[in-house]
Amino acid sequence: MYGRGSFEQLDEILAPHRKENAPMIFLVDHFFEGKPLLGRLPVRANDKVFSADVTYEPKTTYVDELANHLKESYGKVSGIIGIGGGSTMDLAKAVSLMMNNPGSSADYQGWDLVKNPGVYKVGIPTLSGTGAEVSRTTVLTGPTKKLGMNSDFTPFDQIVLDPALTVNAPANQRFYTGMDCYIHCIESLEGTYLNEFSKSYGEKALQLCREVFLNKTCWDEESDDQLMMASYAGGMSIAYSQVGVAHAVSYGLSYLLGTKHGVGNCIVMNQIEEFYPKGVAEFKRMVEKNKIDIPEGICKGLSDEEFEKMINVSLGMKPLWENALGKDWEKIMTRDKLRALFEKL
Ligand SMILES: NC(=O)c1ccc[n+]([C@@H]2O[C@H](COP(=O)([O-])OP(=O)(O)OC[C@H]3O[C@@H](n4cnc5c(N)ncnc54)[C@H](O)[C@@H]3O)[C@@H](O)[C@H]2O)c1
Ligand SMILES: [Fe+2]
Repeated sequence: MYGRGSFEQLDEILAPHRKENAPMIFLVDHFFEGKPLLGRLPVRANDKVFSADVTYEPKTTYVDELANHLKESYGKVSGIIGIGGGSTMDLAKAVSLMMNNPGSSADYQGWDLVKNPGVYKVGIPTLSGTGAEVSRTTVLTGPTKKLGMNSDFTPFDQIVLDPALTVNAPANQRFYTGMDCYIHCIESLEGTYLNEFSKSYGEKALQLCREVFLNKTCWDEESDDQLMMASYAGGMSIAYSQVGVAHAVSYGLSYLLGTKHGVGNCIVMNQIEEFYPKGVAEFKRMVEKNKIDIPEGICKGLSDEEFEKMINVSLGMKPLWENALGKDWEKIMTRDKLRALFEKL
């Protein structure tokens, strides 16, 4: 569902999915604590509202804690509604899956390991760019890796794209998350996995990103509308291909240093002209035009052991490297080359 004000239809959307005595669980980004949005939630009967703590990006321990709490408190729930940025949406997807799958979410980090569908789940973005609203993954940091629960059961059953919800986003955050979308487009369109499906969506998303971050003179309602559709199309584009170098390297940063996804991607994108010459040049123009600071020197002073950890996490993302550099990627992206890249960040 798309449109300004579409959030108001949430009550109607949920009605047919309510099961007797089983609450709807609203998982809302903690940014909205004390904000008017909470008063607009269609809370009925024994529904519950939880604040999603996204100080850190989602961890498997947090997903397990939330799912276990829901199982112990309510037995069954009618559904989970995730309202927030990519972190909150990913949490909602993962908790929904863990309501119907045994063990820990860490057991399902990988490709097609999830056995059973989750409970009914709805995604409502309040930041645009990650594509988490459409993707078949939920990115989690676990005890040994940062990797998604990629499965056919992961996508939301319903999404509500209401651009009015993104209006409060600070310019820096909006840029970092928006660049996630731009980078998805470049990595998908320049990748070896490219196909007509990914190309069609990727080109559209790229055009919208250029519109909002380069062509327009100021940020207005139309920019929020366009970036929300860019995020959707960018997510669709990678659904049938893969991301690439920026994401693979950024995962390493995030695992060791806790660097957030959006800003981490930007830090890496700033230094990888070698792989995406045109995309990186355009990215730099966007940074300049929008007057954004991209942190530098974040790997200064790290030990050899720490670099090794980041290199291991990053090189573990095999499909990303294969998409970016082809079947012989291991010959191109050697450990030494990757170390040199991390040292530049
Ligand atoms: N599942 C996927 O396909 C996929 C793809 C890309 C990224 N991700 C994940 O998405 C996460 C990053 O998401 P993100 O960039 O949307 O940021 P986020 O969800 O981590 O939120 C960033 C910050 O913005 C705040 N925020 C959210 N909405 C706001 C609003 N309307 N106004 C002001 N502040 C607001 C949050 O409270 C938080 O402090 C990472 O965990 C990443 O792994 C998932
Ligand atoms: Fe991303």
